[in-house]
Amino acid sequence: MKVEAYGDEVKSFRGDAVVLFVYEEDFRPVSRLAKGLAGRVRKTLAVEPFKGKEGELLKVPTPGLSVNRVYLVGLGKREKAGEDTFRRAAAVAVRRLKSDRVKDALLVLPRRGEPGFELSKAVTEGLILGAYAFEKYKSGEKKPAPEKLLIYRGDAKGIKTGRVFAEAQNYARDLVNEPGNVINPVTLAKEAERLAKELGLECKVYDETQIKEMGMNALYAVGQGSATPPRFIHLTYKPKRRKAKEKVVLVGKGLTFDSGGLNVKPGDYMRHMKSDKSGACAVLAVLKAAAELNLPVELHGIIAAAENMPDGRAYRPDDIIKAKNGKFIEIDNTDAEGRVTMADALSYASELKPDKIIDLATLTGACIVALGEYTAGLFTNDERFGRAIKEAAKRAGERVWELPLDDERLRKKIKAPQADLLNTGGRYGGAITAAMFLQEFVGEGIPWVHLDVAGPAWSKEEYAYTPKGGTGFGVRTCLEYLRGVSS
Ligand code: BES
Ligand code: MN
Ligand code: ZN
Repeated sequence: MKVEAYGDEVKSFRGDAVVLFVYEEDFRPVSRLAKGLAGRVRKTLAVEPFKGKEGELLKVPTPGLSVNRVYLVGLGKREKAGEDTFRRAAAVAVRRLKSDRVKDALLVLPRRGEPGFELSKAVTEGLILGAYAFEKYKSGEKKPAPEKLLIYRGDAKGIKTGRVFAEAQNYARDLVNEPGNVINPVTLAKEAERLAKELGLECKVYDETQIKEMGMNALYAVGQGSATPPRFIHLTYKPKRRKAKEKVVLVGKGLTFDSGGLNVKPGDYMRHMKSDKSGACAVLAVLKAAAELNLPVELHGIIAAAENMPDGRAYRPDDIIKAKNGKFIEIDNTDAEGRVTMADALSYASELKPDKIIDLATLTGACIVALGEYTAGLFTNDERFGRAIKEAAKRAGERVWELPLDDERLRKKIKAPQADLLNTGGRYGGAITAAMFLQEFVGEGIPWVHLDVAGPAWSKEEYAYTPKGGTGFGVRTCLEYLRGVSS
C-alpha cells in the first residue's frame, strides 16, 4: 500500500475514490470536489443522517463521474480534534476502502493550512495501522489493501516517518501474534539476528550455557522447565554519519509463552499468553524504525527470552536464585516469572551505563485491574524522564498513567523471609510491588521508566487503528521519545 503526497487540485483527481475528512456539522470541504461530485454528495447529505461525528462514515456512489465514489469520514467536534483523531479517522477510512476493494483514493483533510509534517505523519500511521490484518494462517482469499493512497497537499517527510513508525508497529504485531509453537526463545533470537542483518545492527545472542556463565541465574531458572532453552539477546544500533545524542537501553519482557509454570494458570488465563513477549517484540520494532530513520541515538535492545513451563526440571516455589547483580530472589509464585527474567535483563542493561533505560513488560494482571485494559502503567525513578515519556505517549496517542513507587510500606511486601527479595508482593498494589521489584535491579542514578503493558499489548476487540490480537503498544511511544531527543 503506497501512501504519497498529492499536489494537484482535488477537482482534477481521477480515480476510484475521494475521501473527505469532515468536522461535525461542517461540510464545507465538499465544495472542493468537482462540481458533479459535490452536487451528488450534497443531495445525499440532505437525506442521510450523517453528522460527521467521530467514527461515522458516509459512502456516496458516484458512477459515471470523475471518481467512482466519495466517502465522508467524521472527525467529531473541531475543538476536540487532535492528531490522534486523524489517526483514528484514517483507520476507519482505510478499513472501509479495503472492504469496498477500492484500489486508489485521494484523501482530503479539512483546511487548517496544509497538512504539515505532524498531520501527514498521523494520517499515514492511521492508514497503515488500520489496514493491518494477521492472516498468514487463514486459507482462502484475503481482502487486499488499497494499492495507492494520496494525501492532498501532504508532507512527504511526515508521510515517510509515519510509514516507518506504523510499519515497525505492524512488525511488532506480527511477531506477537505468532504462537508459541512458532516463536520460542530460540526462534525469537533467530528473528533478532535476521533483523539485525537486514538493518546492519550488531546482535549478540547468548545461549543457556553462557546465560549461566554470565550469572543470569534468574533468567536461567525461569527457562529451565521448557523444552526450548532460554536466550539472552543484545542488539545495538549506532547512528551512521551522525553523533549519538543519548545512549538509551530498551528492555523488553520476552516470555514466548507463560503457562504460569508449576503455579500453572487456569485455562482461560493461559489463553493468549503467547502475547507475554509483547515487550520484546516492541523493542525489536523500535530498533528497526530507529535504524531505518537513522535517528541520532545509541540504542541497545535487551531481551531475556524464556518460556515458562511446568516440568520435572521447572523452577519451583521456595527456590532461591542469585540474580546477575548479586541479589537473592526467593520464589513465592512461579507465575510471577516476568520480573525474575527482567531482574537479569535490567542488571545487564545497567552495566552498559546508559543515559536512560526504558522497559516494556506485560508484567501484571494487577495493572489491568488498576487502569483497565487500554492504559499502560508508567513507573519511574526520575520525574523529568517520566514526564518526557508521558509527553511522547500523548503524541503517539497511547494511553499511559503513572503509578507511585514511593510507598515504603508497600515496598516491604517484597522482602523475602529467607532471601533479599520475594517475587510477589501480595494481593494489593500488585503492579506497584512488581515495579518495585524491578527497581532493585536498576543501577543507581540511571533514569528509568517501566511501562507495564499487560493491558494494552493485546486487544480483544477492534477499535480505530487497534486490531484484535497483538497491538504493538509502546512502539510509537518509544519512537516519539527518541524522535524528541534528536530534535
Ligand atoms: N504475564 C503475566 C501478566 C499478565 C496477565 C499479562 C494478564 C497479560 C494479561 C504475568 O507473568 C503474571 O502471571 N503475573 C501474575 C503475578 C502474580 C502471580 C503475582 C498476575 O498478574 O497474576
Ligand atoms: Mn506469569
Ligand atoms: Zn508473564
